[in-house]
Amino acid sequence: MKLSSRLGLAATLLAGFGGVIAFLSRGMSAHPLTQTSTRWESSTQCKQCHEDVYAEWLSSHHAIAFTNPEVRALSDDFRKEECMDCHLPRPLAITGFGKRTLPRRTHFDEGVSCISCHLSADGGILGRNDRPEVPCKPKRSEEFLSVDACASCHNQHQTTDQWRASHFAQLGTDCAACHMPEVERKRGDKSTRMGRGHVWPGAHDKATLQKAGKFEAVRDGNEIVLSLTNVAAGHNFPTEERHRAVDLMYRFVTKDGPAATWTLAHRARQPYRDEAEPVGPGAASGENTQLPAGATKTVRIAIPEGAIAVEARMWYRLTPFCDDQSPLSTLLEERRVELP
Ligand code: HEC
Ligand code: HEC
Ligand code: HEC
Ligand code: HEC
Ligand code: HEC
Repeated sequence: MKLSSRLGLAATLLAGFGGVIAFLSRGMSAHPLTQTSTRWESSTQCKQCHEDVYAEWLSSHHAIAFTNPEVRALSDDFRKEECMDCHLPRPLAITGFGKRTLPRRTHFDEGVSCISCHLSADGGILGRNDRPEVPCKPKRSEEFLSVDACASCHNQHQTTDQWRASHFAQLGTDCAACHMPEVERKRGDKSTRMGRGHVWPGAHDKATLQKAGKFEAVRDGNEIVLSLTNVAAGHNFPTEERHRAVDLMYRFVTKDGPAATWTLAHRARQPYRDEAEPVGPGAASGENTQLPAGATKTVRIAIPEGAIAVEARMWYRLTPFCDDQSPLSTLLEERRVELP
């Protein structure tokens, strides 16, 4: 989208919803319970004291939730207004943890901002500890620390439900344990303390994707057995967006060299609601073949005459409508089994 039309959109929205903004800001600044005189409304306010957290967030998909070209294209530049609910949300504490978020009409370039997650209903800051001595005066909130703080936006495609049904939920390994790992933070006086990562690695991070599944190719008599186990995704693999796909591919090698094309052995994916074609070989129409946490999928393939080896690959695809050369495809694992 061109900058001029983006500004145009922003201006239209601002004009139309000025009243809402005025109402919101009044509510935030004048509330009697507010202990700090600062009115928290933008992530940039936190930057001066939380520079490292700010830089991590800026590199994350939460920060680009409203500016992401992929989202702009699919939402028709947010003319589909319902897309703003989670991509340009008001603070969770105001709309309710675990409840569907509602759109705001300010700070368009901040997507899911510090304010979206950390602002309290009385205009203060939510965190793990009560810290009245600290400039931003954070206060402990159980709801803020709970999985509900992710569920408001991350259960549209059942990621939170998948997690609740998994052994990770029983172990107490929550979303933040995997997506916001502990990191060391420097204090102004050169001492350090432990903090939590604000990058939220997921489908755009190869290392995170590679951790999720254990992929194997072995010979069993006159068959090749490909297997994939979801060892480290705390929900289905792949999860969320219905176009995410994990593909198991193979090709046999003869003395003349490898077959010209790869064959799809299995595709793990959740189909669109109205999709009639099965998502991959062996799947039923409408069947969700995503692999639940801890589960294993195996596929058996007969070894053809003259084969001297088989090559197998596991791919992650941001969308199934792309080939191996596309930047939307990531090669996760590769195996070769000799067939003497
Ligand atoms: C004027 C400086 C300053 C600003 C501005 C500021 N903070 Fe802080 N904040 C601090 C300091 C200092 C600490 C304590 C860090 C430590 O423990 O060493 C802190 C701690 C925190 C904590 C941790 C609380 C806990 O559980 O221990 C959170 C969460 C937090 N800030 C969020 C924010 C957010 C969100 C913003 C912006 C809306 C913000 N802060 C703005 C100075 C600031
Ligand atoms: C209920 C909250 C919610 C609503 C409403 C919502 N989204 Fe999302 N969207 C998310 C979450 C959470 C993700 C991250 C999960 C993922 O990437 O699979 C996401 C991711 C995306 C992505 C992938 C971005 C990327 O970089 O790959 C696109 C595209 C997208 N949304 C488009 C839309 C469109 C278009 C609409 C409106 C029709 C919409 N969203 C409405 C929560 C929502
Ligand atoms: C207010 C809505 C909202 C909340 C709350 C929220 N997210 Fe997100 N999250 C999104 C959206 C929207 C995206 C996708 C943005 C995009 O790609 O354009 C996203 C993306 C992600 C991604 C995917 C990044 C990638 O590159 O694929 C992860 C992981 C993630 N969020 C984890 C979390 C966790 C963990 C929590 C709870 C601590 C959380 N989110 C809370 C809306 C939210
Ligand atoms: C045990 C570790 C673990 C836990 C717990 C966990 N995840 Fe993940 N998550 C992963 C791994 C690994 C991936 C990459 C593979 C995949 O996409 O399934 C991932 C991927 C994601 C993505 C990227 C999807 C996309 O299409 O962009 C989102 C969003 C996400 N997780 C959200 C959550 C939420 C919300 C929770 C809690 C309800 C959670 N995760 C719990 C490990 C975990
Ligand atoms: C998607 C929700 C979300 C967003 C967006 C978010 N945070 Fe956090 N933040 C959390 C969660 C959850 C914790 C972990 C609390 C805990 O377990 O200790 C946390 C912890 C913190 C902490 C204390 C730990 C540390 O690493 O220092 C600070 C400070 C903080 N956030 C500041 C910020 C700032 C500044 C921004 C914006 C640049 C921001 N947060 C954006 C959810 C969020």
